[in-house]
Amino acid sequence: MSPLDIDELLSNPGIRIVVCCGSGGVGKTTTAAALALRAAEVHGRRTVVLTIDPARRLAQSLGLTELDNTPRLVPGTKSGDGGELNAMMLDMKRTFDEVVAAHTEPRRAAEIFANPFYQAMSSTFAGTQEYMAMEKLSQLRAADTWDLIVVDTPPSRSALDFLDAPARLGRFLDGRMLRLFLAPAKAGGRSVFNLVTAGFGMVSKTVQKILGAQLLSDLSGFVSALDSMFGGFRERAEQTYRVLQDPQTAFLVVAAPEPDAVREAAFFASRLGVDDMPLAGLMLNRVHRRVLPLDAESALAAAQELDGVSDLTADALRAHAAVALLEDRERAVIAGFSSEFAHVPVLEIEAQATDVHDLDGLRSIFA
Ligand SMILES: Nc1ncnc2c1ncn2[C@@H]1O[C@H](COP(=O)(O)OP(=O)(O)O)[C@@H](O)[C@H]1O
Ligand SMILES: [Mg+2]
Repeated sequence: MSPLDIDELLSNPGIRIVVCCGSGGVGKTTTAAALALRAAEVHGRRTVVLTIDPARRLAQSLGLTELDNTPRLVPGTKSGDGGELNAMMLDMKRTFDEVVAAHTEPRRAAEIFANPFYQAMSSTFAGTQEYMAMEKLSQLRAADTWDLIVVDTPPSRSALDFLDAPARLGRFLDGRMLRLFLAPAKAGGRSVFNLVTAGFGMVSKTVQKILGAQLLSDLSGFVSALDSMFGGFRERAEQTYRVLQDPQTAFLVVAAPEPDAVREAAFFASRLGVDDMPLAGLMLNRVHRRVLPLDAESALAAAQELDGVSDLTADALRAHAAVALLEDRERAVIAGFSSEFAHVPVLEIEAQATDVHDLDGLRSIFA
């Protein structure tokens, strides 16, 4: 198992994008923020972190009190050497609006914004958050203002949604697909209506009751507007995808040191390989490490001897045994991953005593 050297990665001027991905709750948002902070403070890089739904207190410590969808300088960072940390929180609706505004004339854009289908799609369409994260990433990359962009990924049920989203939305908005939707809708066909509302994640029965012909005409309007606007939408999605494949991008898979999480990380690592995405390493977050060089069995045996003699010491030894057991179990899980993915460097990040919700907490992640 080769160790993942995070400082080598962050100090490499050839690396311009770092993507933290993995299943939900493993620490993607936390590690993304911690990596960006370290790049700015330790490696003097002009950094921006694109976060997605950070915990309220973490968002606050990054100066993100509201969703404004543009990078803001994070107050309280100690960045010498020209480094700086900027942070932004993804607002998928506003990002979608930006895409529309950038690709259509103002009057047409106003019509699209007012269309109920647009409103539904921009906030609830499955995959919109994943796609808009990618869209925002391309915008940040195109601006060329940053030495390094660190990207947090949406809390999808499956870590794969993130890679599939551009293609899925690209397909959906592709001309042929749209015409398929559009033709029967013009004839007032009910089946396509159901199909589309299902795609939009709406409660179609309720919606059908409230809206009739008006809705179908809105739908046609929306679809033809998108059709004219996103002629080359698929190319756009593919372009984003190619940015991710570029060697200037580094994917870091985040996982908890637990069997399910590591299995999913392994699956994700192979999927990145299939898609030719540059996987830089695995970050095992919240690992436990014993503080005394004593195995669990000896600690428990000693604890038993001390029962009634020094209960406090016996309790401390039992607590130690619990951590030692946890560490052994975690090491076995990690070894399993490394035997399958010997070429993937691994970094272990210790579990902090408390939740990570301020800059000092973020600093201690990679200290
Ligand atoms: N190394 C760590 N030690 C202690 N708490 C952590 C650590 N990493 C993450 N956390 C906490 O775990 C929770 C989930 O982390 P988060 O980064 O939001 O996960 P994700 O973005 O993958 O859903 C947060 O409350 C965070 O503060
Ligand atoms: Mg998150």
